[in-house]
Formats: sequence, structure tokens, C-alpha cells
Amino acid sequence: MSALGKIIFYSMIALIIIFSAIIILILSLAFSSSSAVLSSNTAPIANLGQDTLLSCYLLTQTVTKVSVTWEKKDLSGVVYKYKNGAANLQDQNSQFKGRTQLFSEALVTGNASLLLRNVRQSDEGEYTCILSSSHSGGTVNIHLRTAAFTAPTFTLSNSVLTAHAGRWFPKPNVTWLNLDDEVLQGNTTILVSPKKIYSVWSTVPVTSTDSYICRIENDLVISVSTATVTGSAVSEESYFTFSAASSLLVSVHLSITVTGVLFIYNLT
Ligand SMILES: *[C@@H]1O[C@H](CO)[C@@H](O)[C@H](O)[C@H]1NC(C)=O
Ligand SMILES: *[C@@H]1O[C@H](CO)[C@@H](O)[C@H](O)[C@H]1NC(C)=O
Repeated sequence: MSALGKIIFYSMIALIIIFSAIIILILSLAFSSSSAVLSSNTAPIANLGQDTLLSCYLLTQTVTKVSVTWEKKDLSGVVYKYKNGAANLQDQNSQFKGRTQLFSEALVTGNASLLLRNVRQSDEGEYTCILSSSHSGGTVNIHLRTAAFTAPTFTLSNSVLTAHAGRWFPKPNVTWLNLDDEVLQGNTTILVSPKKIYSVWSTVPVTSTDSYICRIENDLVISVSTATVTGSAVSEESYFTFSAASSLLVSVHLSITVTGVLFIYNLT
């Protein structure tokens, strides 16, 4: 090849590379966006047998052409799919048949949160919400864990206070405290059902008028109850706290929009 031939040849190659780069850039501009998908809780803990909400929504609230795919890691098919204004469930994994829904009135604001009914232990795992719309899109990962937890009910008999909580998993432990946070000597019995759900009975000796704190906890959930004894009556108040507090995780899509547009203008 002559020197000129070589120059032309390499120029052609260079041009082909530049044009391919421009085409890729234009395609990625068309199919990507610069907005974000969020979740109000990327590490929820669901109560077995109850319903739970997997949160996923767009930062932008006025959107059209919303499509959503919920997937679960290592699972074939989809958990839920919504496209062209309707549910699209041909590929839905049978594990989720009849147990999932989106909220149509929320979807129009870019909220693709998934309601999962009657949570099972096999629902544990890594979920991905893939959201796209006319304006923006992206994905967010949610790690769902399952537990069983119920607040205890209290009964008083012969100066002994009994706390009973019917459903716990994994196996919890029980601590009794007085209002000064001193540990009291209680007596706890934990029974396990064939389905591996634990039932808790715990007693503590009490005086006629005082308050007692009963804490039932495992690695995922802590239930704290305050039982107040007045004569022969007991009143109670409980709350739960969950391990790994809710977090806002942002997944930002490629945001090459601005630089990409400048690049194209320079070339044309
Ligand atoms: C999304 O919709 C669900 C179901 O209506 C609702 O509970 C949740 O609060 C909504 N989230 C946001 C961020 O609007
Ligand atoms: C009770 O369980 C919690 C959570 O698993 C653990 O951190 C704690 O050490 C346990 N307490 C006792 C007294 O075993």
C-alpha cells in the first residue's frame, strides 16, 4: 500500500470508530435518563404470614409510560411486571402467583411499590425494582428478610406477672427490667411448633403497684413492652424496633446527558 493509501485507510478506520461512538452515544441518550429510583426501605423485615410493602419509586413525580419489572435474585421469571398500562404476568414465577400487586393510583406518580401478601420464609432475598418511564428510570435493590414477631399479652395472678407472645422466629430471648433498667430474675419457657415458630411464656414476681419492662428479642426484631400493675389490673404498651434501620439508597442512571449533548454539538 502506498503512503497515501495508508493514510486514507487509517482515516476511514478512524471515521468508522468516531461514527460508531456517536451512534452508541445517541442510543444511550435515547434509552437512559438522568433521574433516580429510590426506596424508603432497602432492608425491610417482614412478619411471616402478613403482608409487606417493597418500596420503589421515582424521584420525578409526573411521569407517563411507566413500566416496572420486579425480579428476585436466583429466581426464574419475574415477581411482577407492568407494561403498556397493564400487568404482564405470563412470566411470573409461580411462587408469587396471586400474592403480588402494584397500586395503580400510585403508579401514575412513579411509585412502583410492590405489595407482597402472606409472606413466606422463601420470600427472603434480594429483589430488584426496574423502573422506566417517559422521563426517567433506574433500578433499586431491596434485601427482604423474614421473621415472626408478636407483642406479648400480660396476665397477673398471685403476684406473678406472665407475658405470653405467640409467634416468634428466629428463637428469641426474654429480659425483664424495672424502670431503673435493672435486670429482674424472670422465668422463661419457649415452645416450638412443628413449623418452627416459637411461643414464649415468661413470668416475673411483682409487687402490687409498679411497672415492668419485658424485652423479647432476636437478631432481627426487638419487642419492648411496659406492663403497669395497679392492684389486680395490668395495662400494657409495646413497640418494635428492627435491625438495620431503613435507608434511602439512590441508584443513579448514567448521567452523561450534558456532556454527551455538548460533544455532539461540537462535531456538527
Ligand atoms: C407508594 O405507594 C404505596 C402504596 O400506596 C404507599 O404506601 C407509599 O407510601 C408510596 N410511597 C411514596 C414515596 O409515595
Ligand atoms: C438475646 O438475643 C440478642 C439478639 O440475638 C443477643 O444480642 C443477646 O446477647 C441475647 N441476650 C441473652 C441474655 O442471651
